[in-house]
Amino acid sequence: MTEQHRIVFTPSGKRGDFAEGTSVLEAARSLGVDVDSVCGGRGICGRCQVLVAEGDFAKHGIQSTADHLTEWNSVEERYTSKRGALGEHRRLGCQAKLCGDVVIDVPPESQVHRQVVRKKAETRAITLEPVVRLYFVEVAEPDIDSPSSDYTRLVEALKTQWNIDASMPDLAVLRGLQKTLRKGEWKVTIAVRKGHDIVAIYPGLIETAYGVAVDVGSTTIAAHLSDLYNGETLASAGLMNPQIRFGEDLMSRVSYVMMNPGGEVEMTDAVRAALDDLVGEVVKEAGITREGIVEMTVVGNPIMHHLFLGLDPTELGGAPFALTLDKGQDVKAREVGLSIAPGAFVYLLPCIAGHVGADTAGVVLSEAPHLNDDVTLVVDVGTNAEIVLGNKKRLLACSSPTGPAFEGAQLSSGQRAAPGAIERVRIDHETLEPKFKIIGSDLWSNEVGFWEEAAKTGVNGICGSGIIEAIAEMYLAGVITQDGVIDGDLQARTPRIVGEGRTFTYVLNDGEPRITITQADVRAIQLGKAALYAGVKLLLDHYGVDHVDRITLAGAFGSHIDVKYAMVLGLIPDCDLTKVGSAGNAAGTGARIALLNETARSEIESVVGKIEKIETAMEPKFQAHFVSAMAIPNKVDVFSNLAKVVTLPPPKVHAEPAEGEGGRRRRRG
Ligand code: FES
Repeated sequence: MTEQHRIVFTPSGKRGDFAEGTSVLEAARSLGVDVDSVCGGRGICGRCQVLVAEGDFAKHGIQSTADHLTEWNSVEERYTSKRGALGEHRRLGCQAKLCGDVVIDVPPESQVHRQVVRKKAETRAITLEPVVRLYFVEVAEPDIDSPSSDYTRLVEALKTQWNIDASMPDLAVLRGLQKTLRKGEWKVTIAVRKGHDIVAIYPGLIETAYGVAVDVGSTTIAAHLSDLYNGETLASAGLMNPQIRFGEDLMSRVSYVMMNPGGEVEMTDAVRAALDDLVGEVVKEAGITREGIVEMTVVGNPIMHHLFLGLDPTELGGAPFALTLDKGQDVKAREVGLSIAPGAFVYLLPCIAGHVGADTAGVVLSEAPHLNDDVTLVVDVGTNAEIVLGNKKRLLACSSPTGPAFEGAQLSSGQRAAPGAIERVRIDHETLEPKFKIIGSDLWSNEVGFWEEAAKTGVNGICGSGIIEAIAEMYLAGVITQDGVIDGDLQARTPRIVGEGRTFTYVLNDGEPRITITQADVRAIQLGKAALYAGVKLLLDHYGVDHVDRITLAGAFGSHIDVKYAMVLGLIPDCDLTKVGSAGNAAGTGARIALLNETARSEIESVVGKIEKIETAMEPKFQAHFVSAMAIPNKVDVFSNLAKVVTLPPPKVHAEPAEGEGGRRRRRG
């Protein structure tokens, strides 16, 4: 009987006894150890590299040494002469064969399911598990004596060399098959999706495949190109959503469809063309070809999701806000106007409800409240706020119509977050004099050199994060009452407060341009924050809790606001400030997770299926919560955590009526 040798793999700890002459790769496969291979053991891809541990391993009862593997062979010699030396103690796992007991370490880069480290420590790592994998095969050449098609011989090669059963051929893939086989001299790399769908065939050995994750926002579209084999983001690009020409916000785009028969086709064409342009940009930046992209994932709000798929969004314009489709969806890339690998698919994450889209599903996947014990509030603030509340026991979601004020729109001095926009504000409680910072400069406006630096961009207006701080600071300095009325009596103390008709205005910048916070601006922000807070309260009511353990702010706006000021304003509920943070573009991160990990797709589909959807428009208590939340921070709710770090002013009631008093706006988009 052939001599048996023990092999122990680290870090998995898996072990077994194998016959002399078994390759390390074969042993790994039979033990289920995660060792990569694209070439199938031919010694050309270098994916299977392993390290031999040297020494006495009492724990495993073996003595491991490099001599317990067969000698360095000609295949390894050829590989290193072409590709450079392997590291010390490294061997190609497919070439090194057992002739004694060994401990073998599988380095992370040789593991298929390695973890990709994310930038933020608090979120979970992404485990690589791409839906598309590459397989190198050698295909038999045609033989007049035993005729069979090139495709038949290709699938036979896949079966015999990789034990893969290919499904029905895709016509677009077939079209290039004969040329590719001949160009590769019957050696080709096949990109196989979900273990059976052939999405691309490349001549020769191709060692990595790429994917693109896209976040289709109503204002901007962002794409990130990743290497599916190591998870690295190789290129990113963004552009304005060209649908803006059909309407600034979502509802005006739905109105465009309603008023213009065929308008949805125009908008679908526009968004698809934009995505295809972005693909062109990222492949150019990464120096690869479009055909190298074998998979894409897309997130977006329900209207963007429907328009991208070519589904009419009209029903999303009014109650009961019925979605055409709320499940995760695979579509052929070419059917949605994307030129990538011929048989490639695009996966769209599921929508949660008529106003809570696949972008929020991406946020949930990224922030994972469903895996936590803490009751977590996740808020993505835009013209609509998408709100998710819960933990591993239950998750609830709703959307609330916050209006465009948080994006700086429709404010007297408002502007989008861009260089020159005021983003930080402080007001001296004694003198009521302000100081501010603009995007593009680290200096405060009262510091030496600020105005020279600001001259490069100008001081152009105030953005969403700036207005949050300005109004919160006005409240803390006593410039506005708890009800949000600018106190005209303070004119006696400061020239910063000026009368305008029956109301008053605070002058933030008295130079050119004059930047003001008017009573109407304060009202617009109050309406927006009250709508958001009322949505949060409804979810708390439904969950049956009166506080949250943790708050995550998602989206561009959420990553720029100072959470303390958001709480002073009463935009978010009271919470330990150390448990409040920003997640950045969590929707885009969710798309990237779904791109790199196939299991994450079934995970989010299952989680979304269980999320309880609350329709704020139908909830009688919304109005009462909304009215309480008009006050700063809130008429009824206590902010005890906040009070530990900020001195909140005593209640100050002012008799002056405020413009726009009592008007509650209900808008979507
Ligand atoms: S499996 Fe490709 S080099 Fe070993």
